Amino acid sequence: MCESAQTGPVILLGCGRLGSAVLEGWLNTGAVVPKNIIVLTPSTKPMAEDAAARGARLNPPVGDLAEASALVIAVKPAKWRDALLPLLPHLAADVALVSAMAGVKADDIAMATNRAVVRVMPTTAVAQASGVAAVWAEREHTRAVAHSLFEPLADVVDLADEDQMDAATAVAGSAPAFIYAFARALARAGEARGLSPDAAARLATGALRSAGAGAGTGAPLSDLIARIASPGGTTQAGLEAMGATGDLDRAAEAAVKFAVYRAGELSA
Ligand SMILES: NC(=O)c1ccc[n+]([C@@H]2O[C@H](COP(=O)([O-])OP(=O)(O)OC[C@H]3O[C@@H](n4cnc5c(N)ncnc54)[C@H](OP(=O)(O)O)[C@@H]3O)[C@@H](O)[C@H]2O)c1
Repeated sequence: MCESAQTGPVILLGCGRLGSAVLEGWLNTGAVVPKNIIVLTPSTKPMAEDAAARGARLNPPVGDLAEASALVIAVKPAKWRDALLPLLPHLAADVALVSAMAGVKADDIAMATNRAVVRVMPTTAVAQASGVAAVWAEREHTRAVAHSLFEPLADVVDLADEDQMDAATAVAGSAPAFIYAFARALARAGEARGLSPDAAARLATGALRSAGAGAGTGAPLSDLIARIASPGGTTQAGLEAMGATGDLDRAAEAAVKFAVYRAGELSA
């Protein structure tokens, strides 16, 4: 971990779904101690209130912002200019801007702010310190800042090129929802085979938890599959059926393709 990269307080700009998850992760792990957290949010959020109760600063006077060594942008892509640009006169010249926004190019933010930018694409499981986060930065220092903020919360994957960020967003940031959707489809298939809706939903959710536990071991995906699919068994029969039609690959390709396409639209 790059402990020296982030030295002062961190501003969290936006405390919605992702901002709250990041904040929860910092509070749970101590990656950023509450006295070093500044949360800027237009409306009351439970996680921001919780952080404030533990010593974080919630919407402090703008004079406090100059202390910050990093600012995490967790607002919607369409909102970043309105949210960030009014803060610029109050931010230190060397503050690192850590953008968690899908689709917004680092250069666009850097040119509008005259600050160094690192892009990070985390999953909301950072709240439980079990997320994954893709990171890209032009400069080593800003990359190190993102590592220091996210490594305690996530498996941080460095990307070689910013162009890979949209694909990483689809394969990591969005993918938990794709996988939940698949588990929901499995539950429906179970219902069609006679399971009650409650039993099907609990079994599919439990299967997802079991899959997550396997993934947590760090074993390669092919090994995880092979551990369950004994030759000639039920799992192998199901896997062969999925592979035979190509529908699974097509669904995954379509999900990634259209998520990447949407990221392109957001950055336009
Ligand atoms: N959700 C995910 O899983 C995920 C994963 C990776 C990356 N991201 C990225 O994270 C960003 C936020 O997504 P989200 O899902 O968390 O959206 P969200 O739940 O709508 O949160 C956005 C937050 O931004 C706040 N906001 C708006 N204007 C602001 C301002 N001027 N100053 C401070 N905060 C302001 C909003 O406050 P109010 O509620 O008061 O309007 C809202 O709570 C997006 O750019 C997205 O691409 C999301």
